[in-house]
Amino acid sequence: MLNPSAGRGATVWLTGLPSSGKTTVAEALTARLRATHHRVEVLDGDEIRIAFSDSLGFSRDDRNTNVRRIGLVAEILARNGIIAVVPVIAPYADSRAAVRERHAKSGTPYFEVHVATPVEVCAVRDVKGLYARQAAGALTGLTGVDDPYELPTAPDLRINTQLQTVAQSAYAVHQLLAERRIV
Ligand SMILES: Nc1ncnc2c1ncn2[C@@H]1O[C@H](COP(=O)(O)OP(=O)(O)OP(=O)(O)O)[C@@H](O)[C@H]1O
Ligand SMILES: [Mg+2]
Repeated sequence: MLNPSAGRGATVWLTGLPSSGKTTVAEALTARLRATHHRVEVLDGDEIRIAFSDSLGFSRDDRNTNVRRIGLVAEILARNGIIAVVPVIAPYADSRAAVRERHAKSGTPYFEVHVATPVEVCAVRDVKGLYARQAAGALTGLTGVDDPYELPTAPDLRINTQLQTVAQSAYAVHQLLAERRIV
């Protein structure tokens, strides 16, 4: 049964470097929300790219197009009462701002969460081996290393996963949603 007080949708965009913990925190947050019968969808970067941005590369324009497309889907879900959790790098401030603006136009709650794990920590975690491949010269254009990551200047929340557990990070995002009366 759905929580009778549920129904306010929102988008929670987790932006940050590769291996910063976006997907991990998104999954923990989603589990928390589902446990209290909220309707949640996760739009994860890798899956979404394959599903409808497969022909896009990693140039600035292509990255921005990918972010705008995901933003469109998230806004539709959120506008219809679902909590859309979006663990996607989104390295450029202008496309992040465009997504925020799209939500503002329809009066749909939007929260930017900066998963601010330092690049040195991300490079040790290196879940997909990207940092190692970049260091070995087998890959170029790695966000935060030899491709830009424009730091969010005014996120709704900043998470330092190197200083706290996954559960603490998920709790912090959950608290944000509670404060803003989404959950
Ligand atoms: N406190 C923490 N919060 C989140 N992740 C953590 C934490 N401590 C260690 N980790 C580990 O860091 C890794 C983060 O990987 P994850 O796939 O979540 O990153 P990502 O930001 O989604 O990367 P990508 O952009 O490549 O998809 C996981 O292996 C996770 O277990
Ligand atoms: Mg991920």
